Amino acid sequence: MSPSKKAVKGGREFLSKLVDELDARFGAGDKVRFFRAPGRVDWLGSHTDYNQGLILASTVDREIAVAARLRTDGRLNFYSLNLNQEVRTRLDDNRPDSSHGFANYPKGVIHEMVEAGVPLPGIDMAFWGNIPIGANLSSSAAIEAATVEAVLGLLDRPMTHWERSFICWRAENRFVGLPCGILDQFTIINAAKDNVLYLDCDHLSSELIPFKFNQYYLLVVDSGVGRQLVKSEYTKRVQECRAAFDKLRKAGFRIESLSSLKPGQLKDAEKKLPATLIKRVRHVVTENQRVEQAKKIVSGKDFERLGKLFEKGYQSSSKDYENSCEELDILHDLMAEAPGVVGTRIAGAGWGGCLVSLVRKVDWQEIDESVKGPYKDKTGKDLRFFPVKTGDEPGEI
Ligand code: GLA
Repeated sequence: MSPSKKAVKGGREFLSKLVDELDARFGAGDKVRFFRAPGRVDWLGSHTDYNQGLILASTVDREIAVAARLRTDGRLNFYSLNLNQEVRTRLDDNRPDSSHGFANYPKGVIHEMVEAGVPLPGIDMAFWGNIPIGANLSSSAAIEAATVEAVLGLLDRPMTHWERSFICWRAENRFVGLPCGILDQFTIINAAKDNVLYLDCDHLSSELIPFKFNQYYLLVVDSGVGRQLVKSEYTKRVQECRAAFDKLRKAGFRIESLSSLKPGQLKDAEKKLPATLIKRVRHVVTENQRVEQAKKIVSGKDFERLGKLFEKGYQSSSKDYENSCEELDILHDLMAEAPGVVGTRIAGAGWGGCLVSLVRKVDWQEIDESVKGPYKDKTGKDLRFFPVKTGDEPGEI
């Protein structure tokens, strides 16, 4: 399918600025075209993806836009308007570089596309976005998906959504170096506006469930806690899950992943595992169950029950998977008392970053008023609120 034309809300004014930056920094060139990709929010299925588990997630109405044009001299030039950061490299020297910051994402995608046989002769790219950085709405996967759209669009090449997702996933795993699952990339590339995506990460089978919030909406709350721990703790959890799997296999459990462990087997499995791994496995197994239940609820639209599952998910994350932190726990408890909030869970990886709440009717400013002050008193940190709706899929602007 060729990229569809999409609108960037509130972003038009930046598009001509992106062209000016490209010309001023990298010289005049081919005609510039514009592409975009949305962020994502996970609804349930925390840390289940790299355990071949289940996920419920959607795009959000915030995005990354990129102005791009081909070059013929093997150069790769990147600029971020938000960060005012410029990176120049070459196709024959396209390696991860920690001093390249955001540019490692498009560089990684280009690396993987070239590996996959896409003949890119060089490119200029200027990015702009309104997905808050570090807010667990996956601005990085949106940069990756926008890069795929741009390269395919400029070269006029087809590629399946499945392959696009894996190119981005490999860029993140092999180039950027985070051993993440497929949640972010798959959701951004395969979900759609007014739908929630149900994904089975084992079979990579997915379903789009048509969906309208009506009187409810999702409210993302940024705790103001940076996510410095994410890389080390995330890698540790991946290793713990792997260790638990190995132990259970050795103990005779005929499972293909932690997610193929049945809830009824949990008691027996626990006898074979040390205390920490018991908690990790319990989270994965019960979280998969919650996704199954939530999928039915979303189709039936009983959002009060969905809120209860958010709550159970939060408790499981905080106590068993231990991907919360003191501030997130404080924030969670304040949100639980706030008007209209029917449930709150950790968005994305955790260890700081954001919570996501399901909210009934009440205006988010009212919640802000009741939570901001007490949170500041208890933690010294400032909150940011982002009400989100589902967003348009990636494509050309
Ligand atoms: C991050 C990763 C995802 C997923 C979530 C936790 O967002 O990139 O692959 O593991 O954390 O569910």
